Amino acid sequence: MLAGRQILLIIGGGIAAYKSLELIRRLRDRGASVIPVMTKAAEEFVTPMSVSALAGHAVHRDLFDLGHEAEMGHIQLSRAADLVVVAPATADLMGKIAGGLANDLASTLLMATDTPVLLAPAMNVRMWDHPAVQRNAAWLRDQGFGFVGPNEGDMACGEFGPGRMSEPMEILAAIEARLADGPLADGPLKGKRIVVTSGPTHEPIDPVRYIANRSSGAQGTAIARALASLGAQVVFVTGPADVPPPEGVEVVRVQSARDMRAAVQAALPADAAVMAAAVADWRVASESKSKIKKTKGALPVLEFEENPDILAEVSQMAQGRPGLVVGFAAETDDVIAHATAKRARKGCDWIVANDVSPETGIMGGTENAVHLISDAGSEDWPRMGKQAVADRLADRIAAALS
Ligand code: CTP
Repeated sequence: MLAGRQILLIIGGGIAAYKSLELIRRLRDRGASVIPVMTKAAEEFVTPMSVSALAGHAVHRDLFDLGHEAEMGHIQLSRAADLVVVAPATADLMGKIAGGLANDLASTLLMATDTPVLLAPAMNVRMWDHPAVQRNAAWLRDQGFGFVGPNEGDMACGEFGPGRMSEPMEILAAIEARLADGPLADGPLKGKRIVVTSGPTHEPIDPVRYIANRSSGAQGTAIARALASLGAQVVFVTGPADVPPPEGVEVVRVQSARDMRAAVQAALPADAAVMAAAVADWRVASESKSKIKKTKGALPVLEFEENPDILAEVSQMAQGRPGLVVGFAAETDDVIAHATAKRARKGCDWIVANDVSPETGIMGGTENAVHLISDAGSEDWPRMGKQAVADRLADRIAAALS
């Protein structure tokens, strides 16, 4: 499992750093290569000499080290690994990631990476219990950061409670589990970056009211999960959906179509884009900044203007267009004819078309019956669960990108 894998090990400044020396040995015993990074504070606890001797690799210590930057820039360094492990993950490092700070090599790498990150927290029990640390930990978990520990027990500072860093063998097991997990498996989409949009959008009328549609986000979520399980690095741009986002993807939550467009643009370039969101075609032309009051005898009249068509924009990019752009067509009649015309109009490679008439029970339901429309014509897939549709589509995407 670990043979041939590359682990970027970030050692934070805590007394538990001594356990990281043992962790490096164990990782190397199993054939992994370890690229060590130390914070300034870590150097107060273990020496770069010990770390580099055990890792068999020079320690990266400085953001502004021209020698290392010339050899391998910090962005590349952060992305070359199969897994980033932070051990010990101090309150400071966790706070920097959660707060979006990047003022040294470790925090910059953590911000620049698109590789999964496993954190092994270590700190005094009072620090671990502090609401700010707990808030950061919860947010990091929500973002898909993996955690191992902290354990409960006697601490070097003489107190007792949760905060002790996990033992090297426990961290090793967590690394193996994380590497075995879907997104890291040696799947056919390993190394491919795919943007997936999902869910409805909410178009504000005023600060408390909005216009939306009935999309649950179930199909888009299933697609993101399927792509990640084939090893893709998925950026999941989701409107306010009913279903939680899948594990192992980068989640970007948005409200309106314009937010979604900005998030998609920010996520590019990508190898593929799958636009499963039910984007509102129109938004309220003059969104009121204050709540519209009910006035006797005067009914509000809403005027609309057109939202940007994200799928069309991405499909027609002059430069940096994803190699494969997949759109969706939710239709209620003449499904194949409308979807075929939509594919031509928007300029995407494939359209996944479905009939969302109320009697089909598809919108908001668990099953889907789709037609895959490409330049080879239309393929009718049997009715099946939304995850099964997603798995089949992910296989097709993998074949197309290989
Ligand atoms: N889409 C998009 N941005 C929009 C509207 C739609 O990216 N503003 C994408 C959807 O995510 C989906 C596809 O376009 O992949 C189909 O959207 P749809 O609303 O069905 O297409 P329209 O061109 O609006 O056609 P219709 O007249 O049927 O609404």
